[in-house]
Amino acid sequence: MSSKPTVLVTRKLPDAVEARLAGGYDARLNPDDTLYTSDGLVAAADGADAILPCHTEKFTADVIARLPASVKAIANFSVGVDHVDLQAAKDKGIIVTNTPDVLSDATAEIALLCLLGAARRAGEGEALVRTGGWKDWSPAFMVGTQVTGKRLGIVGMGRVGQVVAKRARCFDMEIHYHNRSRLDPALEAGAAFHPDLDDMLPRCQFLSLNCPNTPETRGLLNADRIAKLPDGAIVINTARGGVVDDDALIAALKSGKLAAAGLDVFNNEPDIHPAYRTLKNTFLLPHIGSATRETRDAMGFRALDNLDAIFAGREPNDRVA
Ligand code: DGY
Repeated sequence: MSSKPTVLVTRKLPDAVEARLAGGYDARLNPDDTLYTSDGLVAAADGADAILPCHTEKFTADVIARLPASVKAIANFSVGVDHVDLQAAKDKGIIVTNTPDVLSDATAEIALLCLLGAARRAGEGEALVRTGGWKDWSPAFMVGTQVTGKRLGIVGMGRVGQVVAKRARCFDMEIHYHNRSRLDPALEAGAAFHPDLDDMLPRCQFLSLNCPNTPETRGLLNADRIAKLPDGAIVINTARGGVVDDDALIAALKSGKLAAAGLDVFNNEPDIHPAYRTLKNTFLLPHIGSATRETRDAMGFRALDNLDAIFAGREPNDRVA
């Protein structure tokens, strides 16, 4: 019998990560990358010492209650942990970790792609070229919103938000931010802090959501808040769908209150609100913020660093519960 800890790995991970896993653990891999149901997850965890899941597995209070007592840790392959009921895990004595830092650059790249894509109507333009619908050029053709020199409000000035600000400065954007606490001046780099989100919104020609999805931020971008944005503002979401009230955002995109939205994350992925697909002023991506080879390797290694610490009896660096 192996003396290595048994780890249930819920999704197919990068080869280098699976190779390192094999060295230190008895890994139950998922080579076909089949999505587990809740029942399947609980059954597969039988006898496992830890689980290494992605945000695609939902650890509700019920699922956590049904996990075998052998499971000591949930070492997420994600920075977001809204798929885990942290209190239920804590109550059951299960350690939960995430993978911060390593995906900030990749996610900020996608935030800028969403910002530019929404502002310059990239989805619409690409579809025209692909489908043969591009017939002419005129001064009125595909006119969008210029990005350079505009005001960008960032909600959630953590690691990702700070990189978004840095990249946006290359477009001479004026940065405003709302965060639980004010950053040190060196990190702020001239950005204007707004302790009250509602005070920041009227200044935001662009609004980028970069906060975690928590009970406090759920549905944060609702009809009242959208009404406070300037007419023609553009919303970017690379955080989590849960921070947006879909009906309110869709109504504002339909009415023209908002010029456009660039979205990489949605409520109820991948069965997103169908209106997003039919609106011309949306630029849509399938939750690919962290999807680069470098970042996916780094996320796996970070999850393994956390597991290694836990099984060596040390405190993991990225403990969230
Ligand atoms: C994250 O790490 O939270 C990404 O959204 C992928 O899950």
